[in-house]
Amino acid sequence: MLTRREFLKLCTAAGLSLPLSSILLDELVKAQVVKPERPPVIWFQASTCTGNTLSFANTVNPYLSNVLLDIIDLKYHPNLTNSYGNQALQTLEQAAEKKDFILVVEGAIPTKDGGIYGASGERNGQPWKIVDAVRYLAERAKYVVAVGVCAVSGGPFAAHPNPTGCKGVYEVIDQPVVNCPGCPCHPDWFVGTLAHILLYKDLPKLDSFNRPVMFYGRLIHDLCDRRSYFENGIFAEYPGDFGCMYKVGCKGPITYADCPVRKWNEYVNWPVEDNSPCIGCANPGFPDASAPFFEHLPSIRLPNITVNANTIGLASGVITAGAIGVHFVGSRLKGRPLGGTIRTPDKHDTGEREVKPKKDKGDK
Ligand code: SF4
Ligand code: F3S
Repeated sequence: MLTRREFLKLCTAAGLSLPLSSILLDELVKAQVVKPERPPVIWFQASTCTGNTLSFANTVNPYLSNVLLDIIDLKYHPNLTNSYGNQALQTLEQAAEKKDFILVVEGAIPTKDGGIYGASGERNGQPWKIVDAVRYLAERAKYVVAVGVCAVSGGPFAAHPNPTGCKGVYEVIDQPVVNCPGCPCHPDWFVGTLAHILLYKDLPKLDSFNRPVMFYGRLIHDLCDRRSYFENGIFAEYPGDFGCMYKVGCKGPITYADCPVRKWNEYVNWPVEDNSPCIGCANPGFPDASAPFFEHLPSIRLPNITVNANTIGLASGVITAGAIGVHFVGSRLKGRPLGGTIRTPDKHDTGEREVKPKKDKGDK
């Protein structure tokens, strides 16, 4: 069996000869952690567009059927379970009562007015509110994984003015939650997290937002192959142009994820490679913290110089990137977003605040 060090190296490696999920599937089978009894998984959908299910279903290496038949015992999934209505809910409750399952939640949790704006079927003749269902399931689960930014922090469902009071899973339950954000979550981020739990009966190392460090531990800006364009001031002026996408709103300098080396759609591409800025979908504050998508990040203050979008290429790239990161982290820690209105990941802070990005002379 892979040591944890080898596992970590594999998950953070670039240019693997096979897709990560495929390698991990083999490892799980070799380690015999999946047979004869496969670990039970309940996949619960809250307020969602089902994008994470689609992202997961689009994997071809391994095929979804390999994951479902060889790795896990999927007890319940609203789209994939072959029963519906009361029968499906009975299956869900029977599986939950065994208290041996991994709970995967996709989607945001409506909480306003007692959570009446979202229900998952009926229980005892009454709508089973999503917030109650998630609490019921989480209390019985061995592990809870929030997949996609909506389950992590509300995502687009919690965007201003958030009329249904949507929140992330961690804000409504008391159990620890592994957060796998993204809009959607990359299949490898989810399968890799699951594989770690199954192989080592333990959670992977998590950052301060409970994201697995092996996937969310590096800054997109540091992995981007257009970094030299940034440092030399070669910027795209419009989305679709070639060059560094900073001026057209790239959130790579404040987003922690490995998209540039992992890539999407069967490992072929990622937003910047397609001449589109990163909109920071793996950030817990997405989408409000990224708004407006096509407006560049505020000016960056270095010890003796203020650098803006027009002069950034003249400053040291390394120092500049570091300063952006510090600026962002500082803003988040103080609960101040870079722009737009966001709810911070602080469980006890449900307030909203409006902060306009500062404009400096010379900014576009
Ligand atoms: Fe890449 Fe965006 Fe950073 Fe430019 S600003 S180097 S496009 S991540
Ligand atoms: Fe999302 Fe940015 Fe990656 S938009 S997919 S975090 S490059």
